[in-house]
Amino acid sequence: MAWSPDKTEVKSWNEWDTLRHVIVGRADDCHIPPEEPALDAKVPEDSDMRGQWGRRPQETIDRANELLDNFADQLRKRGVRVDRPVSIDHSQPVTTPDFHTDSQFGCMPPRDVLLTVGHEMLEATMSYRCRWFEYLNYRPLLKQYWEEDPNFRHEAAPKPRLTDADYHPDYLSEKIGDAKRLEWAAEKFFVTTEEEPLFDAADVLRFGKDLVVQHGFTTNLKGIEWLRRHFPDHRVHTVNFPGDPYPIHIDATFTPLRPGLILNNPQRRLPEDQRGMFEKNGWEIVDAAQPAHNTPPPLCYSSTWLSMNVLVLDPKTVCVEKSEVYQAEQMDKLGMEVVEVDLRDAYAFGGGLHCCTADVYRDGECEDYFP
Ligand code: ARG
Repeated sequence: MAWSPDKTEVKSWNEWDTLRHVIVGRADDCHIPPEEPALDAKVPEDSDMRGQWGRRPQETIDRANELLDNFADQLRKRGVRVDRPVSIDHSQPVTTPDFHTDSQFGCMPPRDVLLTVGHEMLEATMSYRCRWFEYLNYRPLLKQYWEEDPNFRHEAAPKPRLTDADYHPDYLSEKIGDAKRLEWAAEKFFVTTEEEPLFDAADVLRFGKDLVVQHGFTTNLKGIEWLRRHFPDHRVHTVNFPGDPYPIHIDATFTPLRPGLILNNPQRRLPEDQRGMFEKNGWEIVDAAQPAHNTPPPLCYSSTWLSMNVLVLDPKTVCVEKSEVYQAEQMDKLGMEVVEVDLRDAYAFGGGLHCCTADVYRDGECEDYFP
């Protein structure tokens, strides 16, 4: 049955089929969280964010919200239904029997927290203490979907304990240096241990029957095994990208655009021994264009490679950040129509166009692209 804007239905099996319904995050009340093991390992060593925490400056929150609102309107004008989360008070500290943190993070980016697979939306375990309660920002929406769509499965992965046993102390030094980090990444020695299953939703890419999951700082092997047992009808593949000194979230590294075509970050190439499934099935993995910027904007966790963090609207149309001219040019050459979206001033809030959204509905069914 064709999708209708008047009826709520949750369904999305991949990253590229025609997008009909999506969640766009909000910058409201976003905080730079206090120090904690998993987050510290991720903040770049030369970053302006080291050593400071607290609510983000109001003018940056207002500006990011303006851009996110405009993006939501742009999508609505194209016929996409857009929902927005309801921000909780992120200044509240969190104490569980196992840990304490003095503030939370925000309701950006939704892609990190919510994994949509078919008719299911799964709340990820997360691996930062400051993001432990982040799902609460989305609960009003998930409650609504559950009430309106009788086939919607609302699931939550087991909440992790996040004691110190979850983190390798080697990563807690302030000056590790990129050479050491790259060596560790190549050895698959990441900040998170195998104490318990951990994953962030943004480490998972959906290719119909196949789920491709990045093993790195935010997702450990037990997290991937948990996903494998949770989705018994899927094939779950573990990938890693040795060229990334801060490996979190796959979506500025490996970006499927349509069946048969993936962009790969040229500094973080998928190792040869992990390419088999793509090569055997005639998929092309091409180097992404260079970012247009030499540095990320102020107070930003991510790298300049948010250039390739694009949102595919359908197999011929893609949203690209407005200043990312080289990425847009490459899309054009690859036969994609480019929709320009101004978002750079919101990058600091956790990511780009793919990050700041979460799928609710895309056309299409669960297909086997790698038979
Ligand atoms: N690790 C990526 C980079 O800095 C950023 C990924 C952001 N993605 C996300 N879903 N928050 O290159």
